[in-house]
Amino acid sequence: MTYDVTLIHGDGIGPEITAQTVKVLEATGLRFHWDEELAGMAAVDATGTPLPDATVESIRKNALALKGPLTTPIGTGFRSVNVGLRKEFELFANVRPARSLVPGGRFENVDIILVRENLEGLYIGVEHFVQIGDDPRAVAESMAIVTRAGCERIIRYAFEYALKHGRKKVTIVHKANILKMVSGLFLEVGRGVAAEYAGRVEANDMIVDNTAMQLVMRPEQFDVMVTTNMFGDILSDEVSGLVGGLGLAPGANIGTKAAIFEAVHGSAPDIAGQGVANPSAQMLAAAMMLDHMGELDRAQRMRDAVADTIVRDNIRTRDLGGSASTEEFGRAVARRVA
Ligand code: NAI
Ligand code: MG
Repeated sequence: MTYDVTLIHGDGIGPEITAQTVKVLEATGLRFHWDEELAGMAAVDATGTPLPDATVESIRKNALALKGPLTTPIGTGFRSVNVGLRKEFELFANVRPARSLVPGGRFENVDIILVRENLEGLYIGVEHFVQIGDDPRAVAESMAIVTRAGCERIIRYAFEYALKHGRKKVTIVHKANILKMVSGLFLEVGRGVAAEYAGRVEANDMIVDNTAMQLVMRPEQFDVMVTTNMFGDILSDEVSGLVGGLGLAPGANIGTKAAIFEAVHGSAPDIAGQGVANPSAQMLAAAMMLDHMGELDRAQRMRDAVADTIVRDNIRTRDLGGSASTEEFGRAVARRVA
């Protein structure tokens, strides 16, 4: 069989890392039909808009996309493509794994899956200024909206993820002591869902500020974590920082209508076109895509190949202290995965 996948090469280093990722995916023996579409600056240049209808239609049809990083133009009228995609496909879950790969890092035994709610909370963008006297911006107000259904969906996703991937524990991260309603609802729903999984998946809950501290002191206590939008935004960057940073951090955006896989990092304009970018994060994102497609064995083979290339073969790009080019690294991973 052939898998139909929308492929967005992206801006900056996007085309370089995506080319190597496609090579490794094809080396697994799976067959793909790549529906190549534009987004970001590449799309602005070609079509005048950062998210062309053809791209949205392609993702709608395939329900699956592998996406390179996009440059967000600052100070123009274009809204963020990433936010646009999130809304269009109801990408409610942002899943970011962080695993110690390279020995000698700050931590040797981090293996965390952070599940962030992606559509609700403070990030819905309902905010305004209030005028007092002649100061039109005397007060800023923002609304956080959290729904029972939204909490239930993301928390259940985290527990199901734990079951499916043989994970032991889910930590529900909140601030219900202060935000009695918007965070209290999340905790209440979380405890309810946790009770349903009792005996199958362990669960605990933790206040977000303490969680931030625990993560840098004793990250090995965490397995799967689930939290609301803004806490997840902040903690997911913290988590990727525990294991060597951006070159190794993949992410998945899972929705009701599609799933989009990408590296956490951006388009890295400072090194674009030099052939030195690390394609690992994009490859690990592609492995998450294989998981999502049910190709669990090949997904694991791909993750192992990336790790073994770095650790055993000592073939590393510059960000990890090596001198391998993007292409040399890609060739080495493809050889291992084949
Ligand atoms: P960035 O992640 O592109 O770069 C930060 C630093 O990390 C740079 O020094 C870069 O060279 C390095 N770096 C990133 N990825 C690397 C890789 N694979 N290998 C080696 N080094 C790597 O963040 P920055 O500079 O803040 O953003 C650049 C552009 O990317 C902006 O337009 C931003 O809006 C966009 N962006 C897009 C994202 C997406 O499409 N998902 C996510 C984050 C940023
Ligand atoms: Mg963020």
